[in-house]
Amino acid sequence: MATIRLGDIAPNFTADSSVGTLNLYEYLGDGWGILFSHPADFTPVCTTELGTASKFKEDFDKRNVKMLALSVDGAASHNEWIKDINETQNTLVNFPIIADEDRKVSDLYDMIHPNADSTLTVRSVFIIAPDRTVKLIITYPASTGRNFHELLRVIDSLQLTAYHKVATPANWEHGQDVVVSPSIPTAEAKEIFEKGVEEIRPYLRMTPDPTA
Ligand code: BEZ
Repeated sequence: MATIRLGDIAPNFTADSSVGTLNLYEYLGDGWGILFSHPADFTPVCTTELGTASKFKEDFDKRNVKMLALSVDGAASHNEWIKDINETQNTLVNFPIIADEDRKVSDLYDMIHPNADSTLTVRSVFIIAPDRTVKLIITYPASTGRNFHELLRVIDSLQLTAYHKVATPANWEHGQDVVVSPSIPTAEAKEIFEKGVEEIRPYLRMTPDPTA
């Protein structure tokens, strides 16, 4: 079992999936990725999550993020389940689901938490940057479905802060004011950020979202 931490290189793998054999790095290409695990096929919360995720695909595409789900059942089971998801959630599942019957990927990404459940994966989320580093890890229990609005919000923050010397404050959403990185002196910040810098405290400087 591996421990993956923020900043680590996301381990590559080749595995069977609902669309055939899939290699993580080839699938991601030079874009971003989101890998999210599900406890098992034909389970109610997962069914709603995969239906919701399918409806959000355009939003992930816009951000150049490839979606990849995982569950510990086989590809044939996934494809039967996908029919149910499409029918009950009124959607079309439009991204692959890894078939991790041997738990190879689940173990590689530490997605099984034995004190929660000895065989099923928890609801892990990994966001992977184009340089293959892991930028976000969130773990939800099986009983709580994920909020895909929140996952898109975090991706907006990760992408903004990857390219600008800013951080995003509590509850931030795209277009709202951001925090100037603590490492930038205020005088320099005023040169960098054309839209202006408000110094509330020497350590707390705000500027409009540079991409809005
Ligand atoms: C579900 O996806 O509904 C679920 C799976 C495992 C435990 C609890 C709920």
